[in-house]
Amino acid sequence: MFRWFRGLFSNDLAIDLGTSNTRIFAKGQSIITNEPTVVAVSRDHTGARKVSAVGRAAKEMVGRTPTGIEAIRPMRNGVIADFESVSAMLRFFIKSASGNRGFSAPRIIICVPGGVTEVEKRAVREAVSTAGAREVFLIEEPMAAAIGANLPITEPSGNMIVDVGGGRTEVAVISLSGTVFSNSVRVGGEKMDEAIIQYVKRRYSLLLGEQTAEEVKKRLGSASPSGQLEEMEIKGRDVVGGVPKSVVLNSDEVREALAETVSLIVEAVRFSLERTPPELAADIVDRGIVLAGGGALLKNLDVLLREETGLPVMVCDDPMCAAVRGSGLALDKLDLLEEIAVA
Ligand SMILES: Nc1ncnc2c1ncn2[C@@H]1O[C@H](COP(=O)(O)OP(=O)(O)OP(=O)(O)O)[C@@H](O)[C@H]1O
Ligand SMILES: [Mg+2]
Repeated sequence: MFRWFRGLFSNDLAIDLGTSNTRIFAKGQSIITNEPTVVAVSRDHTGARKVSAVGRAAKEMVGRTPTGIEAIRPMRNGVIADFESVSAMLRFFIKSASGNRGFSAPRIIICVPGGVTEVEKRAVREAVSTAGAREVFLIEEPMAAAIGANLPITEPSGNMIVDVGGGRTEVAVISLSGTVFSNSVRVGGEKMDEAIIQYVKRRYSLLLGEQTAEEVKKRLGSASPSGQLEEMEIKGRDVVGGVPKSVVLNSDEVREALAETVSLIVEAVRFSLERTPPELAADIVDRGIVLAGGGALLKNLDVLLREETGLPVMVCDDPMCAAVRGSGLALDKLDLLEEIAVA
């Protein structure tokens, strides 16, 4: 009865603290927060920092802040770069996620990239505790994404998941609820945006903002040709004259701009395949590779990986939310959580 009572009023949360986006899944509900990982801070007359906005409201300020306000991306390549801002942002999200649910501080499951250092893990634990958690469990993001993608991770067979996030690409081979091999590279969607900015600067002497570059990537970007040439007018600032100007960019140019970054992702997958034990490799030949993370939405990334590996490749449903969905599922399966939680 007590357990049932507690379960009913439980306010436990699962959080995917990503380089680009932070998402929260509330036990017994679903994803209740999905916001960019951005914090806007201002300084008062004493010089002390004050958070003036987080998430979407803060992202809109990136590149547009007046003096005195700074829009910060507090995560870099999947790890905390600005502890104070991350804690403040989590406190805000946890508070609004908890709302009127439950009376006690929540227990929280949070994803960390595979292969991060002890110091980086400790920073995440501390940030979540500082933000108001009663107890913190860490799980590796590729494991969470595999669960969220409905892969049969508890079975004795090889499952390969590739999570292409904003700051990292993580490849993992999972069997019997454990990671058999994993590889994590600091390449993802944000490197693609930077590559577009560099390309346009070099070719057109035009400076693009981060948000414009991301928009270009989503609208025109691809990993391999789709046979249809698309165009888009983009606006920025002329490097030489310093005045606003616009140029028309086409999808072939954007693919060229992204080629190097995309090849690093392909390389990370190949590297992992080469190091997968033979029995599990045979399973992957049958089951294929599953893509998750926002970068999986890059047009034809699956097609390119299929061509380059000769294996079946599919993008899971709603790939950007796979990791938080998987962590959310673990909230209800304590025996599974015990097996997959990292120390
Ligand atoms: N349609 C699309 N085409 C290409 N890229 C996309 C698309 N939609 C989203 N993205 C990119 O996906 C990235 C965000 O993915 P996601 O939310 O999975 O990252 P994250 O979890 O915050 O980062 P990480 O896991 O690396 O810490 C961004 O770079 C975004 O621009
Ligand atoms: Mg992620």
